[in-house]
Amino acid sequence: MMEKKRILTGDRPTGPLHLGHYVGSLAHRVKFQDTYDTFIIIADLQALTTNFDRPERLVEDVLNVALDNIACGVDPKKATIFVQSMVPAIAELTVIYSNLITVQQLSHNPTIKSEASQYHFEESMPYGFLGYPVSQAADITFCRAHLVPVGDDQAPHIELTRKIVRKFNAIYASVFPEPEGIFNPRLVGLDGNAKMSKSLGNAIYLSDSPEEVRSKVNRAVTDPARIHPTDLGHPEVCVVFTYHKIFNPETAPEIDRECRQGKIGCVPCKKILAEVLNRFLEPIRERRNELAKDITLIWDILKEGTARARAEGEKTMELVREVMKIGYFPPPA
Ligand code: TRP
Repeated sequence: MMEKKRILTGDRPTGPLHLGHYVGSLAHRVKFQDTYDTFIIIADLQALTTNFDRPERLVEDVLNVALDNIACGVDPKKATIFVQSMVPAIAELTVIYSNLITVQQLSHNPTIKSEASQYHFEESMPYGFLGYPVSQAADITFCRAHLVPVGDDQAPHIELTRKIVRKFNAIYASVFPEPEGIFNPRLVGLDGNAKMSKSLGNAIYLSDSPEEVRSKVNRAVTDPARIHPTDLGHPEVCVVFTYHKIFNPETAPEIDRECRQGKIGCVPCKKILAEVLNRFLEPIRERRNELAKDITLIWDILKEGTARARAEGEKTMELVREVMKIGYFPPPA
């Protein structure tokens, strides 16, 4: 039997996951877990690149990300969920890869640039932050993954990973497959920002209560040209309509029509959306509450997943050390 191709994807644990994570990547990983050998990384070291002075939040954030993944349908029997910092191969590869990329290449990365301005790093850029895409290349390659389903903001990081892999394979020997990204457009934030993100405060969390969802949707920006409910609307510029298209595809064409004709106002339109989102989130919330009753089980899942990831990483490192001629006690013949 042909071995299954591998997927690697994952999240930074900086808080609970939101709808943007779901649309960008979680839905994909659930869909693909039967077909591919799936690895899901909880990238705690990457989270530290912007939160290094708040390590006390890590444990809870790691747990939340694990809960969100499993509540959304990631099955730990099929997918390997693991913690980044506990896999030594990732740190080792990061060091090795740092020779294969230039500071100039890293500083032109558009995702790094926009995140740096968000965290006010432009003037004094932490080395670890500038370099996190190198560490992300190690995340992807430590298990020699073939596919990386992610939000399209991650495209520059996948491109960098491919560059590093090509260079490594050309200089030493062909150890790594060149991983391919499977991209999904990012979900816009409630405030109209291109990206839903915790640090921008424009997110609906998978764990939000029905009331929170309703009040957040109420505050979402709509077509600025609509002041009265009878004004003719432009759904193509409306955040609420973007969500209708994704989460309410059957009714969206009707809402589109009625909005353009000024037959539905923003208030009822938002009410429909909040209901749709709550219907979508309800089973996830329920599963999450159920899972949260037995936290030991979640830590066991992570412990087992991490053990498997460590073993895969060690296999890769044996190949890497061999082709790089790293080996001393005794040296190779
Ligand atoms: N950078 C990703 C994000 O912010 C998280 C991540 C870390 C990741 N390592 C990864 C995604 C490896 C895919 C593959 O969402």
